[in-house]
Amino acid sequence: MDRLFHVVEAQQFDRSLLADIFSVTKEMEEVVSRYGSNILNRRIMATLFYEPSTRTRLSFESAMHRLGGEVMTTESAQEFSSAAKGETLEDTIRIVEGYADVIVLRHFQSGAARRAADVASVPILNAGDGPGQHPTQALLDVYTIQKEIGRLDGISVAMVGDLANGRTVRSLAYLLAKYDDVTLYFVAPDVVRMKEDIKDYLRRHRVRFQEEKDLLDVSRKVDVIYQTRIQRERFGDRIEDYEQARGRYVVDMQVMEALSEQARVMHPLPRVDEIAPEVDPDPRAAYFRQAHNGLYIRMALLRMVLEA
Ligand code: NCD
Repeated sequence: MDRLFHVVEAQQFDRSLLADIFSVTKEMEEVVSRYGSNILNRRIMATLFYEPSTRTRLSFESAMHRLGGEVMTTESAQEFSSAAKGETLEDTIRIVEGYADVIVLRHFQSGAARRAADVASVPILNAGDGPGQHPTQALLDVYTIQKEIGRLDGISVAMVGDLANGRTVRSLAYLLAKYDDVTLYFVAPDVVRMKEDIKDYLRRHRVRFQEEKDLLDVSRKVDVIYQTRIQRERFGDRIEDYEQARGRYVVDMQVMEALSEQARVMHPLPRVDEIAPEVDPDPRAAYFRQAHNGLYIRMALLRMVLEA
C-alpha cells in the first residue's frame, strides 16, 4: 500500500491510492459497528481550528477516539491560541508537532495547509484552508457517491451554489477528474461562478464540464446534485452580491420531481435555505448519510497516516 503522509489537496491522490483509502474506510465501518478498536492506542491528534466547524472537527475527534487515540483541541484558534499574540502559523506548527503525532488544521487562508506541511515533521491533514480546498470532505463525498450510486466512472454531477468560494466543490472537482467519462455541470449565480484554475485543470485532464443556468433542466440528466451554501463569510462588505446569490438555486420538491429515481442529492452541510426541509425524508436525500461517512473516511486517514 502507498504510504500516505500529508493530506493537503485533492490532486495529490491517484486512483490506486483512492481505492486503498476506500477499502480501509469500508473496514472502518465494521470497526465502528464492533464499538471501535485500540489500533491507535495512545497516539495523539491535535485539531487546530481557526475557523468554525461542527462536522469536520467532531468527526475527526470521534474517529481518533474510536481508534483508541487521544485528542487535543484548539477551536477558535484565531482568538484563543498564540496566533492572537502574533505568532506565525509556521511557528505554531513547529510547537504543536512536538506535542502531537498528527495535526488536523482548518485555517482561513488559502494555502495554509501547504505552508504548514512545508515545516511539519508530523502529518498535516487539511480540514479546509479558506476558499482553497477541503480534501478530506472530497474523499467522503466520492466515497458516498460510490456507496450510493455504485460507480464513479461515467458519473454525472451537478455542482450547485457558491462555486467560487466553496472549497468543497473545488476539491471534489479535482478528485472526480481522476475517474473516467465524468461529466460536471456547474450551476452557479453569476457572482460566484467556478474559477478558472479548476476549469483549466479539467480542460487539461479532458474532463467534460458545462456551465448551466437552469437547475431544473440539469436535474433531469444527472446522477448527483451536489448543492452548496453561499459562503457569506467570504463576501466581506459585498452584501449586495451575497443577497443576489442567496436563494437563486434551491433544491425543492420541483427539483426532486425532475430528478431520476436512482439519483442522489448531496450537500457538505451546513445548509441554510438552499435545500427545502421537505426534501429530507426522500430516500434520495443523501446528505445526512454523507456526513456520517465522514467519520469512516477520517478513521481510515488517521490509521493510514499513522501507519498503524
Ligand atoms: C464545508 C466547509 O467548511 O467548507 N463544511 C464542511 O466542512 N462540511 C461547507 C460550508 O461551510 O459551507
